[in-house]
Amino acid sequence: MCGIVGYIGAREAAPILFEGLSRLEYRGYDSAGLAVFDGSATHTLRSVGKLDNLRQRLAERPLKGHVGIGHTRWATHGRPSEVNAHPHAAGPITVVHNGIVENHLALRAGLEARGHVFKSETDTEIFSHLIREKASEGRALPEAVRVALNEVRGSYALLVFSADEPDLLVAAKNASPMVLGLGEGEMFLASDVPALIAQTREVLFLHEEELVVVRREGYTLMDFDGQPIQRASKRITWTPAQAEKGGYRHFMLKEIYEQPRAIADTLSGRVSLERGEVRLEDVHLSAAEAARINRVVMCACGTAWHAALVGRRLIEAATRIPVEVDVASELRYRDPIIDEGTLFIAVSQSGETADTLAALREARARGARVLSVCNVIESSIARESHDVLYTHAGPEIGVASTKAFTTQLVALQLIALHLGRLRGALSDEAAGEILAELTHLPTLIEALLAVDEHVQGVARRAMHARDFLYLGRGPQFPIALEGALKLKEISYIHAEGYAAGEMKHGPIALIDEEMPVVVICLKDDQYDKTLSNLQEVRARDGRVIALATEGDTEIAALCDEVIYLPPVSETLAPCAAVIPLQLLAYHIADFKGTDVDQPRNLAKSVTVE
Ligand code: AGP
Repeated sequence: MCGIVGYIGAREAAPILFEGLSRLEYRGYDSAGLAVFDGSATHTLRSVGKLDNLRQRLAERPLKGHVGIGHTRWATHGRPSEVNAHPHAAGPITVVHNGIVENHLALRAGLEARGHVFKSETDTEIFSHLIREKASEGRALPEAVRVALNEVRGSYALLVFSADEPDLLVAAKNASPMVLGLGEGEMFLASDVPALIAQTREVLFLHEEELVVVRREGYTLMDFDGQPIQRASKRITWTPAQAEKGGYRHFMLKEIYEQPRAIADTLSGRVSLERGEVRLEDVHLSAAEAARINRVVMCACGTAWHAALVGRRLIEAATRIPVEVDVASELRYRDPIIDEGTLFIAVSQSGETADTLAALREARARGARVLSVCNVIESSIARESHDVLYTHAGPEIGVASTKAFTTQLVALQLIALHLGRLRGALSDEAAGEILAELTHLPTLIEALLAVDEHVQGVARRAMHARDFLYLGRGPQFPIALEGALKLKEISYIHAEGYAAGEMKHGPIALIDEEMPVVVICLKDDQYDKTLSNLQEVRARDGRVIALATEGDTEIAALCDEVIYLPPVSETLAPCAAVIPLQLLAYHIADFKGTDVDQPRNLAKSVTVE
């Protein structure tokens, strides 16, 4: 996610802003910038790449003044570049923003029709022109911001400064975090506590749809209707290191809890429930091109490969095109059958995995149309694809992939629906039903996270096992693979995912009272058969940990542990089932004291074959 900082006080703003941005570096970014008002004009510096480049610019051209804003950008709309870096300005108005403006295309068209000239490709620049327009109609900055926000749809943390009213800053929050730091005769704003913890520990977190007007000596908090809000500030007791994790013990746990927001951001601006339509801004496949696809080949590594396995079912169900999935390191060495009739889908969080990139190049060389699902804008895999669908999960710091995985599942569902509609293989009604369920997913996952406390107990009781077996059927087989991968890569306990129906063809020889067997046994169309597999484990004194559907009391008598999930449709079931498995792996590793965020021998992006 992007980083935001703001300062107003008696000290020089630039050093304070820069230090704040440097404390947000862990969030991942690809460009940065500052804007400072020197008493007569606003001066802005922006740079691509690491903060050292901005430091260099500042050394060459110091910014003087006592009020300013700053930003580290993690690109979602528009490539990483100086022109797209924040802050963005229109006349006296300068803004920095974190989040996604869903209706930015419509707003931009209207503003351009009214004579506004845009300089960047970003959705953020909308705010500067819109607020300038409202201010030019005679409104003070706070009211101009408030009125402008009524026209904006999406998720944002926004910080605004005007050279015409240099004694204040205005910040607004809707879904993306914004925090106010209270000092003595000075105030600080930031998208996250680490950026201001060196300056003050007295903070006020903005809630949804709130706006705050900040002056040196104080602040006024209000809602988006302009109604004042009274709320006491809080004292932060975190250490700076804890603060980077938002108070969570590890980035991995933070990212597990970020999944509702990450999924909402990945869906944002891409779903039209009324028309049962999907809008994929960087996928330019025409209906004619979609009609010519006779095979889909999906390719990835690790967790992304598990996502592709789930995606296969989704795409085949929506399009009736045969789909093949392979790990990247195998695909390109088997003289794959790929040609002009093939749609090649590469899935990669980092967009830099060498095996996946090499397989993509092979597919392109054989004439395939290449569509990639990536979480990093302008990454190598994204750049070398004909089309790309970005997951908006924000930077994933923990090596073990969590929010990237669930947003990949959502992205692949969107691709399946888009292809099905393009090919006329999916009715409006069927697409509409699936989309309606998808938009419910963030709420479902939010509720599911409540299982965390129970899972901690299960983890405590299972943490000393030497081996685990994970079993799942149908769409839950890839989730069994993913649950096993999560456990082994962060706890160093051997774990194996298996198709439940395959257990009796070998792994059943492993069953004994020492080995926990995690069985995903939700109330779906394969429940009875999976329950039989569970009973086969039980009959051999295996330790059964079941993922079950709330209300299924029968299964409890057959297990040592049950983790209940709310009833969920087949569409959402894989996304739901993986949450407790992420938490189980996390807590076992945390109890064992391994380096959860940086497990031994592992890299976040494997850029070698
Ligand atoms: C998953 O937790 C691992 N970090 C690893 O398997 C990862 O999924 C794999 O290396 C692929 O990475 P990518 O998605 O960046 O291509």
